[in-house]
Amino acid sequence: MEYKILTGNFKIPVIGLGTFKIGGSSTEPDFSEDKESIQAIKDAIALWYSHIDTAELYGATHTEELIGEAIKDFERSKLIITSKVYKTHLHYDDVITSCKKSLERLQTAYIDIYLIHAPNPEIPLQETMEALDFLLEQGFIKHIGVSNFSVEQMKEAQKYSKYKIAVNQIPYNLSARNEDYKGGGCSDMESEIIPYCQENDILVMAYRPIERGFLLQSHPLLDTLSVKYGKTKAQIAIQRLISKKNIVTICKATQTAHIKENLGAMWWTLDNEDIEALDATQFGTPNT
Ligand SMILES: NC(=O)c1ccc[n+]([C@@H]2O[C@H](COP(=O)([O-])OP(=O)(O)OC[C@H]3O[C@@H](n4cnc5c(N)ncnc54)[C@H](OP(=O)(O)O)[C@@H]3O)[C@@H](O)[C@H]2O)c1
Repeated sequence: MEYKILTGNFKIPVIGLGTFKIGGSSTEPDFSEDKESIQAIKDAIALWYSHIDTAELYGATHTEELIGEAIKDFERSKLIITSKVYKTHLHYDDVITSCKKSLERLQTAYIDIYLIHAPNPEIPLQETMEALDFLLEQGFIKHIGVSNFSVEQMKEAQKYSKYKIAVNQIPYNLSARNEDYKGGGCSDMESEIIPYCQENDILVMAYRPIERGFLLQSHPLLDTLSVKYGKTKAQIAIQRLISKKNIVTICKATQTAHIKENLGAMWWTLDNEDIEALDATQFGTPNT
């Protein structure tokens, strides 16, 4: 199954393209590889990818500019763009300003899925949700979502919006399950957030599917499964995510070999006994 349903008949591919660090860090843009970055995104779209995940934060806004250049040559209606408003921009007017600036940089009339990048207890969620409702009603965004939200935060957000919260984007992978190991506030994913999303028809968009390369290191189970299926460890880690109900993922890759390899996580399945073994195994966590 290469797609999952987001809402109604809006389908989303199980694998999307992440773009964090393309075009710079969160604090500083890097213009030195613009041509290569634009080409990498275009190549990914031409190959298969139609969902691109970004944020105003990425490349200190430059990533959205690169995506805007890359998507110009493609039919917009065939693409799904997810972007995010940063947690310091959650006051009503700031949300609207952020979204309009993202639209300009992306050179598009609408964003398919617009997320609150992370909760911010300093800013009343009600005004953020009302601003998202306004953006949706005006056609600037097609779906409302959140990222790094707990169940309680999702419930609160839903209370303030007239529209369904369609997505929660969380750092879920074989290594990151329940613990809040980075202190980012997103814990209890497997025990609480994912079951709640599955029961309430909220799409889980799992980010960092290979934990930024950590899951590619030597590990007895992944090494064995890699040989058994003739698949790479990246493909096994991604397949385990996308085989779950209501879960899609976003893999960041700029190298053509990685872009292609990650697509090889689709069109095959793991045997039940191997799924059980993966689910029962602790993979540890990276130091950083
Ligand atoms: N909502 C949030 O708070 C949040 C936070 C973090 C990330 N995200 C989103 O999630 C996306 C994915 O997360 P991420 O970028 O942090 O981590 P990731 O996708 O787990 O890992 C990306 C890294 O792995 C490399 N890579 C990709 N495929 C590979 C393969 N098959 N073999 C070997 N290396 C491979 C990439 O290299 P190359 O680029 O050199 O190909 C890149 O260095 C982000 O890009 C972003 O869009 C969201």
